Amino acid sequence: MLGAQLPAQGAPASDAGESLQARAARRGLIFGSGVSWPDIQKDPEFRGAVLADCAEIVPAVEMKWGELERREGVAVYAAADSLVEFASTNGLQIRGHTLVWYRNLPAWAPAALTGPSGSAVYETHIRTVLEHFAGRLASWDVVNEAIWTPDGLPGFLRRCVFQQAFGADYIPRAFSLARAVVPTMPLYYNEFGLEYDDQLHSQKRHATLQLLSDLKSKGLVDGLGVQSHLHVGWGFDAQVFRRFLADVAGLGLQILLTEFDVNDARAPADEQIRDQQIADHAQRFLEVALDEPQVKGMLCWGLSDRYTWLNSPPYDRADGLPNRGQPLDAAMRRKPLWNTIAAALDAAPRRHSGRAAGNSR
Ligand code: G3I
Repeated sequence: MLGAQLPAQGAPASDAGESLQARAARRGLIFGSGVSWPDIQKDPEFRGAVLADCAEIVPAVEMKWGELERREGVAVYAAADSLVEFASTNGLQIRGHTLVWYRNLPAWAPAALTGPSGSAVYETHIRTVLEHFAGRLASWDVVNEAIWTPDGLPGFLRRCVFQQAFGADYIPRAFSLARAVVPTMPLYYNEFGLEYDDQLHSQKRHATLQLLSDLKSKGLVDGLGVQSHLHVGWGFDAQVFRRFLADVAGLGLQILLTEFDVNDARAPADEQIRDQQIADHAQRFLEVALDEPQVKGMLCWGLSDRYTWLNSPPYDRADGLPNRGQPLDAAMRRKPLWNTIAAALDAAPRRHSGRAAGNSR
């Protein structure tokens, strides 16, 4: 397997000092990042940075349905398997992301899901993927981004092909099938837009709690992935967010910050000022997030500015400059955001275990 052929240790990310994964582990937390296989494979410097700072990785695209089954019935697991192999060779945990998402679907899937064999197509996809990776992953994002309150649907669900085909039931069905196929696997619901102090985020928090409460009452969910795509300049209310995390924890669920990064579209061009604003914004968020004992860890969505979705078109910054929202810059050097994450991990209350525990039933 390709993963096994890669050097286990690339050049460590520039400066000396304890890594983020080591700091997290001391607190019983886990630190990691979303990564893509081509970047890991082709770029020893990035690979080294990932191995230095991360104890867990998540395939940013490789396990999505549209990547695994571009042609109906022809499963291609090469890239996803390479990441699993890379993780295993290097002693990293790896999460599954994501079984049911309205984006990155195969082109043939919408017609198949809404056709006469829709149920079988849906269940076969979920079962096949879970079985393929069984025993090799730390947790799964079973359903991703199902809530979109502006759509005005019952349960605040997003209007999407799954909801069109099966109604609101598509969510418990996916979790229930996952439970049956991989009974000991921690199952997560993953969502964005939960962090800020505005009407949309407030509605999404409310709807997410309702969904989680319903799934938990049926013993179907173990955790919430709070994506944590932050934005400099957006209004963050520490008390409101602290309360939300406590409410999720009160349901008996684990929480992971699953896709942490900081969009700097509203920060000035000057790099020093920008990096400081990014770090300050993240600090306010992490201080609250890592204080909740049910938060078990944090994963960046890219780790380095060299590979981040924040720098894919359409660009958010009016001046066209690349975003600087990851802890390492495009040259793999640590930035103020790295130091902020390090300090927030150091200050976090100690957990009993940083490893994703078994499911919570
Ligand atoms: O790999 C191909 C490349 O061969 C081709 O030349 C190129 C041309 O467009 O596309 C490349 O694939 C792109 C892939 O990212 C590469 O990383 C896909 O087009 C592009 O759609 C894909 O975007 C990903 C997106 O999810 C959709 O799957 C982003 O990388 C990934 O960061 C993003 O992640 C999502 C999370 O899953 C859920 N939360 C939001 C987050 C950001 O959108």
